[in-house]
Amino acid sequence: MDVVYRCSFFLITFGESYLWTLPYFRDNIIRDVTVQWKANGSMVGSWNMLVYGTGFYIMEQISGDKKTATAPITYFFYFLGLTNLMFNWGHHTYIVPAAPWIKNVAYIISMTELLILGSIILNWRKSLSAAKKNLHSVPYRFIAAADIWIFLNLTLAILMSIPAINKYTHGTHITVAHAMGSTIGINTMILFASLYYIFERNDGAVKNRKTRIGFFVVNLSLILFWVTLIMSGIVKAMEVENGMAFQKMMLQLQPLFKMLNSAGLGIFAGLFLLSIPLLTKFSKIILSTDKLLSK
Ligand code: HEM
Repeated sequence: MDVVYRCSFFLITFGESYLWTLPYFRDNIIRDVTVQWKANGSMVGSWNMLVYGTGFYIMEQISGDKKTATAPITYFFYFLGLTNLMFNWGHHTYIVPAAPWIKNVAYIISMTELLILGSIILNWRKSLSAAKKNLHSVPYRFIAAADIWIFLNLTLAILMSIPAINKYTHGTHITVAHAMGSTIGINTMILFASLYYIFERNDGAVKNRKTRIGFFVVNLSLILFWVTLIMSGIVKAMEVENGMAFQKMMLQLQPLFKMLNSAGLGIFAGLFLLSIPLLTKFSKIILSTDKLLSK
């Protein structure tokens, strides 16, 4: 039954993202942008729920704690996430002159994420002692890194969701910092935790240097990348407000862009180092399965 619900909702959202093919939507830019953000916002939210689900599974397996995943507070945060994925998409369309109630609902729902932020701060000590206990486990390290990235990115995301602040951050590198910080810092870390968890189940504890170096390189480069983007966004927002010409403002940002470039290369190198042991292992598994099947 669950599969039927999931497929139906996926088809509805997927269908919505193609409504632009109908002249009723395509010919009205406000309607089109609003529907596109609704469809794609919900789709990204659903993808996030899948990623966080795998995160929970791994944490349960590593810690052996079977209670947390079914505790009432976990269900509360699950439904909070679900409500957000269904109703917070309007924060993408603050500058679109669509119906005000859409923006008001999105603003209120986005602010409920403060509860998640509060819970991270309240449980900080507990997470710290759990981290100390489990830090030898590579998948756990990725989960711990994702936790820190959730804290940083959620603080930024909540600030950007306040219309008075969004007015300045919209269209600047701060939005890019949010998008890339969340995708790489949160989702990529959790997905690497899942892949290394599968790796460790087959081969035992990961002890190679590439993974250790890759982990530090990617996280340190991402911090530099994220901070540089925020700084570029602040300069852009201030200079646009002061009426500076776009070309002059972009020239002023050149030193920051150079730092951004180096940090981007660092992220690439780190992800590359993290991927080598996984690709080697998984291609060996595929090849041995192929040999078994062809016998
Ligand atoms: C892992 C989680 C998340 C990911 C991957 C993500 C990703 C993105 C992406 C790709 C954009 C579009 C950037 C563009 O316009 O090109 C965006 C915009 C935005 N997000 Fe998120 N997001 C996440 C969570 C959140 C949360 C929880 C909030 C609010 C509490 C939020 C608030 C916003 C706002 C306000 C914008 C619009 C910025 C603007 O155009 O002015 N995001 N996000």
